[in-house]
Parts: sequence; C-alpha cells; structure tokens
Amino acid sequence: MASQVLVAANRGPLSYAHAPDGTLSARRGGGGLVSGLSAALAEQPDAVWICAALSEGDREAVRRGVSEPGVRMLDIDPAVYDAAYNGIANSVLWFTHHHLYDIPREPVFDAEFRRRWDAYVLYNRAFADALAAEAGQGAAVLVQDYQLALVPGMLRVLRPDLRIAHFTHTPWASPDVLRMLPRYVVEELTWGMLGADLLGFHTGEWARAFLSAMPFDGAEGSAEEVREGIVEHRRESVWARRTTEVRAFPLGVDGDDLRALAHRPEVDDKLAGLRAEVGDRKTIVRVDRTELSKNILRGLLAYRELLMTHPEWRERVVHMASAYPSRQDLAVYREYTAAVRELAAQINAELGTADWQPVLVSVEDDFARSLAAYRMADVALVNPVRDGMNLVAKEIPVVSEAGCALVLSTGAGAYEELRSDALTVNPYDVSETAAALHAALAMPDAERAERTKRLSSAATALPPTSWFTAQLTTLQSP
Ligand code: F6P
Repeated sequence: MASQVLVAANRGPLSYAHAPDGTLSARRGGGGLVSGLSAALAEQPDAVWICAALSEGDREAVRRGVSEPGVRMLDIDPAVYDAAYNGIANSVLWFTHHHLYDIPREPVFDAEFRRRWDAYVLYNRAFADALAAEAGQGAAVLVQDYQLALVPGMLRVLRPDLRIAHFTHTPWASPDVLRMLPRYVVEELTWGMLGADLLGFHTGEWARAFLSAMPFDGAEGSAEEVREGIVEHRRESVWARRTTEVRAFPLGVDGDDLRALAHRPEVDDKLAGLRAEVGDRKTIVRVDRTELSKNILRGLLAYRELLMTHPEWRERVVHMASAYPSRQDLAVYREYTAAVRELAAQINAELGTADWQPVLVSVEDDFARSLAAYRMADVALVNPVRDGMNLVAKEIPVVSEAGCALVLSTGAGAYEELRSDALTVNPYDVSETAAALHAALAMPDAERAERTKRLSSAATALPPTSWFTAQLTTLQSP
C-alpha cells in the first residue's frame, strides 16, 4: 500500500547483523537523528522510513527480502556509497557547514572530487526514485540532512503532487565558506533544497545562514517575520513561483523517556562502578562522538588550565570525557581520536597523583555509561566550534541528580535556547573556558539548582514527537 508519511535518512532505525546461527537479527541504529526520529515515528504507525543499507548484514537482508514493518533499505553500490558518504557528505559538506577546513591545504576541487560528486548525485537519485515509488498521492515526505540535499529537487520533478520537507541537522555554512564550493555544487544544492515546500533548521541562526549564503537567482520577493518567537523566512523559489518556507524547529528531548532510560538497572550498575572510581569528588562531564567539530582537545586544554590556575581543585575534581568512535574510515578522524587519548594521558601523567586520575576518558560506544555520567554531572562541558543543535547540552541538565552547571559554547545550536542559564564561552578561548569551569564548580548549590530547573524546562520544550508533528502539520497545511 502506498504511504502517506515518508521519512528518508541515510541511517535507518535499525541495522542487521549475523547471529551466531547464521540468521539475521535487527538491532536499533545509533546517533542523535535516529533516536529523535525513532521516537517521533513511534506515533506514526503507517509511516515508512527509507534508509541506506549500511552494513554487510543490511545488504544481505535486502537481498534475502528480510525487512521490518515501516523500514525500506536501499542497497546502493558500495563504491558509490563510499564516495557519496565518506567522499562528499562527511569530507566536504560536513566540513563546509562546520567550517572545519585547514585552509592552506583544503579544500581541493579536482577531477577526483567531480567523480565523488557524481556518486553523491547517484546516491541522492536512489532515494528520490524509492520515495517516488513508495509515496501515495499527495503524501508528506520528510527528507533528513546534508547527505540528501538534492532529493527534494529530484523528487519534485518525479512527483509534483507531493508535499516535501527537508531538515538540516547541521549548521549551515556562512556565505564566505559556502562560496569555496565549486559553482555547480552550490547551484545543485540550491536547486535540490528549493525543491522542498519546507526547509527546517534547528535554529534561527542556521535558517538565516541558509538564506544569506545561497544564490537565489531568479527568486522573487522575500519577507522575514518573527512569529511566536520563531524566526520565519519566506522566499519565492526558482521552482515555478512556489513558496519554500524556511524556519527553525529546535529539537528538544523527552524528559520522561530520558529519565526512564537513565534509571535502568544496566545504568545503575555503571553508576556504581563510576562512583567507586571517582569517590566524592566533583565531576565535569562531556559526551561526544570523536568528532572534530566537538572541540574535545580545547576542552581538555581548558581543564588543564583550570588545574594550573586554580590548584585548589586538584584532587577534588575529575573530568569524565566519553568520546565514542565515529567515522573511523576517515584518516583525519582516526588522528583526532588518537590526539584526544594522547592529551588526556599527558594531563594524567603531568598532574595525576597516586590517588587521583584527573581525566577519565572512555573511547567506546557505551550509552549506559554516558547516562551514568550524566547522572553524576556537577558540571557539563559542551564546547563545540559549530554544531547544529547538540542534544547533550539538553540531556545532562535533565538527568543530573544534584543539578549541574552548563558550560556552553556560542557555537552550539543549543546556545540559542540555553544561553541565559548556561555559562557561555567562545569555543576557541581556552582561558575563558577554564574560567567558566572554575565558576561552574564554585557555583552555589541554590543557584545551580535554579539554573538546572530552567535549563531542563528549555531542553524539553520541543521533544522529538512535537518537533516532528510541528513539521508535519506545517507541511500538510500550505
Ligand atoms: O549532527 C547531525 C547528525 O545527523 C547527527 O544526528 C548524527 O549523529 C551525525 O550527524 C551523523 O553521523 P553519521 O555520519 O555517523 O550518521
């Protein structure tokens, strides 16, 4: 039966692996986008989620016709997938939107880049074709993220009857950085995105960045309005005078769900282990993918500076840093992960004592351990150089047991909603971050409790289900 609500995302809600007896078993997929969407789609029983087959198990499931209700996996040629995902989405679009280039050397756009771009087009085409085949008349299609930026345009050509939304979970590049991309890439991205009726971003800042960075040649008219605190922009698109609405839907967390997850027996066990290690010392907690934009190295440098400039904290605080592995197919990510381990080891060697290890690093994907660390947090450190939202900044205040002070950089999308109750820092300024860590550790209990209450309420303002419904309702009521 054709579907009326469809989601398209690179990652799916589950992935298949071989069980020891040779059968295929499905496991829940990982990542912020997947958890948010999975929760929202639980309330849309007829929705279909189209995703790429990512593992060998996934590809075999597609070949054998094994599937779960509401999930369609696309078996894309592995070479095309690798060029599109690693070669363009992660190495170029991610770097562009997060301003991560090492400018004297990068980026380089040559014939090899063109080959990868062609693969990105093919990969987007596979999603557009699958959506066109699955969608019922007038259905709502919600396309996710920078991996699929061309899909709205491609789908609009195939199926003009559909209502199409695209949501960008990353920031959007500033005009100067976007202009580094080859002109044909910027044109194709513009064409692709403006095929949508609705373009969503996590913050007004990223929505405005999109509007100021993209060349809307041929676009007619523009208006900006602020309605109910949400910045909304409208422009006539190049698509036959259709209107593409551009607006912010700031994703939040579901407080009840998160607290229930954080109090499972598995998390209690991890908590007991961590408490035994840390004792009654204060904790500074961070949890990230080992991702360049998360700024983990400057966070560690700030912690070292805190211990140097405020020696009274030595032996009285532990920095618990979970940095779970990500994108290890890319050399730059492997190097970054190694650098994080090395700097943490240096700090421990330099300042640690027989009874005290200043930094506890965990470079593994252990969600239960992260939740246990959230519960123990006195201070949360979230200092990305640039980040679409950063849900960790919203999760820790909701889960921390004693209330926590949040040190938050201006580069996080969450800054827009949480700034008034966080201690805010310039992500490049290690000394300012060290001073904010000191202020956070020294914050009086009553003030910390008050701030935590307000942070939690801002963090839970638009939980995933409402976030998704708000987009769907906007999309379905032109
Ligand atoms: O930040 C946007 C986001 O889509 C996250 O939700 C997700 O964790 C990441 O980017 C993508 O990571 P991956 O390439 O591992 O799917």
